[in-house]
Amino acid sequence: MLLIDRLEEPPDIRLVLPGSKSITNRALVTAALASGESVLSGALFADDTFAMVDCLRKFGVGITIDPDSSTMIIKGSGGTLIAPDETLWVNQSGTTARFCVPLAALVGSDVVIDGDQQIKSRPHRELFDAMTSLGVKIEYLQAPYQFPVRVNGDQLSGGEITLGGETSSQFLSAMLLSAPLFKEELHIVTEGNLVSTPYVDMTLAVMKAFGVRVTEHSGQQYSTPIGGYVATEYQVEPDASAASYFFAAAAVSGGKIGVEGLGSFSIQGDVHFLDILEKMGAKVIRSDDSLTVCGPDELSGVDVSMSLISDTVPTLAAIAPFATGPVTIRDVAFISNKESDRISALITELSNLGIQAKKVDTGLIVYPGTPQGGIVNSYDDHRIAMSFSIMGLFTSGVIVHPHQCVEKTFPEFYEVLDQIRMRGDGNLSLLAIDGPAGSGKSTLAKYLAKQLELEYLDTGAMYRSVAAVTIKSGTDLGDKNAVAEIAERILIEFDGDKIFVDGENMTKIIRGTDVNAAVSEVSANPGVRAVMRRRQRAWARARGGGVLEGRDIGSVVFPNARLKVYVTATPEERAKRRSLESGRTIEDITKEILGRDAKDSTRIDSPLVADSEAIIIDTTGKTIEETSDFIQKLFR
Ligand code: DC
Repeated sequence: MLLIDRLEEPPDIRLVLPGSKSITNRALVTAALASGESVLSGALFADDTFAMVDCLRKFGVGITIDPDSSTMIIKGSGGTLIAPDETLWVNQSGTTARFCVPLAALVGSDVVIDGDQQIKSRPHRELFDAMTSLGVKIEYLQAPYQFPVRVNGDQLSGGEITLGGETSSQFLSAMLLSAPLFKEELHIVTEGNLVSTPYVDMTLAVMKAFGVRVTEHSGQQYSTPIGGYVATEYQVEPDASAASYFFAAAAVSGGKIGVEGLGSFSIQGDVHFLDILEKMGAKVIRSDDSLTVCGPDELSGVDVSMSLISDTVPTLAAIAPFATGPVTIRDVAFISNKESDRISALITELSNLGIQAKKVDTGLIVYPGTPQGGIVNSYDDHRIAMSFSIMGLFTSGVIVHPHQCVEKTFPEFYEVLDQIRMRGDGNLSLLAIDGPAGSGKSTLAKYLAKQLELEYLDTGAMYRSVAAVTIKSGTDLGDKNAVAEIAERILIEFDGDKIFVDGENMTKIIRGTDVNAAVSEVSANPGVRAVMRRRQRAWARARGGGVLEGRDIGSVVFPNARLKVYVTATPEERAKRRSLESGRTIEDITKEILGRDAKDSTRIDSPLVADSEAIIIDTTGKTIEETSDFIQKLFR
């Protein structure tokens, strides 16, 4: 559950967004089937792509991933996939589930595919029927046309199939991606009105980049040549659906948001979400390598067909109340089968926030209004969670629940949301004090908070609390996900000098030797840092500012702080101060704080550094009054 902070100032920012989920999962398949080693740059690292990587590894494909450089290196199988010795788990990923069915058929022996409940309740029938018509045996292990299934493609060769495309274009993409490895050519005839055709074009574009040209006849029939893919170095574009949230935020706020690396030649249909914002009055600047939205004074209503860009329906619906006229969205009946029944979800949640919205035959209509705050059910659907978070930028008290589902495609979503709030953070009455262990920053920060009549936040105590609970629960410090989950779950409350974690007084425990030894590892965990940063920002925004003390407050948490101070002291002085506080020997303490400094300054995420705008103060030999008088003057 997450309370969304309002946006206080129209943003003016250029964003670097994570890679496209749809392109990453397609390129993973083509690279896995190619001969030779492929490198995907700018790839997405999120639950849906991890699901695909996991399944491909079970098919015997060697994949090395490096989240820090957003790179994936794939040792192509040349089409010779091995039979996994365990069930393929597709989690909640629709593309992984669908793409893996024909891939499993390539193996030529039994492959079992299963996934999360959400994937079981989505439709896949046309895909299974198409596979069956090619001689592939599909055994439904629980319910007809649902996962889990046992696939056996022993008899698969190729030929002609008819495929319904009214439910999802992913069936067609799934068949196309594996078809070059079939024994014979595959001819696909589509029936009915094919939905989301830009995703089919994306599939064809990725296949072409890996050396396979599909012949397309009037957008209804496709012939795939046999022969397989060629490994390549492939640059994945930033995700256009993810960008839609920020373009929408720019449009409503009257600010300006640009996205790098996403340009007019994008292979993602969802960039056409910009056409709708343009129709509503936003100014859109398109170049080869960036797209920018400038919000107008007023957004007008629209009546649009969104069948080709249906993933952005929740985005538009969530900003629709801020338009001056009704927003009508048509031709998207099929989105009732996505991660949630999106049309019903949107109408219900908009109505709960006091906005009039109703179903029309193939979509929905949303009327202008001022939303009230309240709890928004995300139905565990990432797009519902992200869309209502954008609404929360312009509405006080929007709480998204559950909010963690953004991990599916955009783990950094809330971090990027904070980036667009940064301009407004410049208006806070905020003093950032950073520095190494024992530099005297806590005493100084508390003293200054009193003098400046601001509240004080000891962010180190927050990391210490996570470390304490991790130790207490017996969780392995190295289990990054488990420790990050603890950070997300626990409630940390301050009462004067006391610290309560989930209601328990932990003031003493968090200063103990066990926590001292563990806290650097905990605070180097990017998942923990993301949660803590979010909480620290929310804390200060709710108070209009404060004195925040830590390691990365001026450099990362509040780069627009009114004043940033970096406090140091000689190691001897720092150890002496700690020794006086704790009664331990100076040698012992020097070793500990130097060890902690080394770890804090060399970690990848937010290392301890003096920000370039920070005033550096060496407190060795200075009284607290002297130092604080100096800082106070600067701050005021
Ligand atoms: O300030 P302290 O010694 O109580 O901090 C405990 C640990 O938490 C320290 O090793 C560094 C880490 N920390 C951090 O990484 N970022 C912050 N903003 C505050 C503390």
